[in-house]
Amino acid sequence: MATDQYQPLQGMSDLTAPEIDVWQALETRSRELLDRYAFTEIRTPVLERTSVFARSIGDTTDIVQKEMYTFEDRGGRSVTLRPEATAGVMRHIAGQGPEALESRLYYLGPMFRAERPQAGRKRQFHQLGAEILGAPNAAADAECIALQHHLLVEWGLKEYRIQINTRGLPEDRRAVGAALRDALSSSVATLCEDCRRRYETNPLRILDCKNDACRRVVDRLPPITQFMSSEAREYFQEVMRLLKRLEIPVEENPRLVRGLDYYVHTVWEITCPALGAQDAVSGGGRYVIPVGAKEVEGVGFAMGLERVMVALREQKADRDLISKRPKIWLISSGTAAFEENLVLMQSLRMRGLCCGMDLQGRSLKAQMRTANRQSAAQVIIRGEQEMDNGTFLLKDMATGEQEELDMPGLMERLKVVTPF
Ligand code: HAM
Repeated sequence: MATDQYQPLQGMSDLTAPEIDVWQALETRSRELLDRYAFTEIRTPVLERTSVFARSIGDTTDIVQKEMYTFEDRGGRSVTLRPEATAGVMRHIAGQGPEALESRLYYLGPMFRAERPQAGRKRQFHQLGAEILGAPNAAADAECIALQHHLLVEWGLKEYRIQINTRGLPEDRRAVGAALRDALSSSVATLCEDCRRRYETNPLRILDCKNDACRRVVDRLPPITQFMSSEAREYFQEVMRLLKRLEIPVEENPRLVRGLDYYVHTVWEITCPALGAQDAVSGGGRYVIPVGAKEVEGVGFAMGLERVMVALREQKADRDLISKRPKIWLISSGTAAFEENLVLMQSLRMRGLCCGMDLQGRSLKAQMRTANRQSAAQVIIRGEQEMDNGTFLLKDMATGEQEELDMPGLMERLKVVTPF
């Protein structure tokens, strides 16, 4: 189709005004909050060696098996567009000295997964994520969940659920897997094709399958905590106790396991029921990630910003995030006024004001139309008469009121404190 030339690839989007104003506001507020929680930003490359992801996310996960954008670069090396950022952050940490093993890092940027595009599922999407390294205790897990709760409050998102579970210690994995296989052995034939494969490779993943037949089987299973060590259960109880003290509302969901293999202990997901089938706005947990000869342990989360945007729009809270500075539009009639306005506009901008003007010498009416389109709060009008008198007409666009002012009067109205 001819129009395809002007479209981005399927599942990817151009982000522009007016929506971009909400994105920027969300990003600014998030950075401010993460700073308050003593996190610093990390920006890792979007392209990494394929092994960075395959090993840490897990060979049998959907992400690694079906969703990665993997290709050979010009040197014949296998590279992958990052499907998530935790693996790349851990690659960075493992390459640093021992002090890096105690870090509090956040990231914000595009991720890529070759999923079948549908509502809430993009091929390029953006995550805001954070990782706490070097705090192997329940307080760090609770702090991560409290931070996400705070972010959602800060963004003005309501009606969400925080669901939490534990996957136990790495040492528990074998026992949990064996117990699940045992409990599922008589029902394997009724499971979906994916779960029949998972029964052999990764039975834990059967717990969060969305297929109705699998759900019916899973509903009859005992909670997996039953098969874990007492150490794992105590750790989880401590996370729950701290969350209660921090007054964070969470629900225990014994079926929650998450789709990435690196998790140990606590896992959680935040859902917004209004989003429909793809209702997870955030997911996270504690993990141990192997990098080369090292293993890095941490706890963190990532929030899907496209889904947050949709939820904010549904709840009509998106525009409330924007606190834009009022814009002034300069309007000129005649070449002398045009040039003087150009000089005035530059001076006002240097003094911190937000302003603009038509640069094509169009009619007064056309310039006013642009001022409206730009949602200008005020316009400064200068024609031949104002040039002769050394004055300015200042119009308030909301009330329609107009006054003639000299330069000091104009500066006073515009609250310009730095002298010209
Ligand atoms: P994840 O659950 O794969 O976790 O993704 C986190 C969030 O990213 C999801 O809850 C969802 O909001 C968003 N997301 C995922 N895939 C898509 C998609 N195709 N389209 C739109 N949004 C999507 C991780 O990525 C882990 N790295 C989180 C983490 C950090 N765990 C520990 N630290």
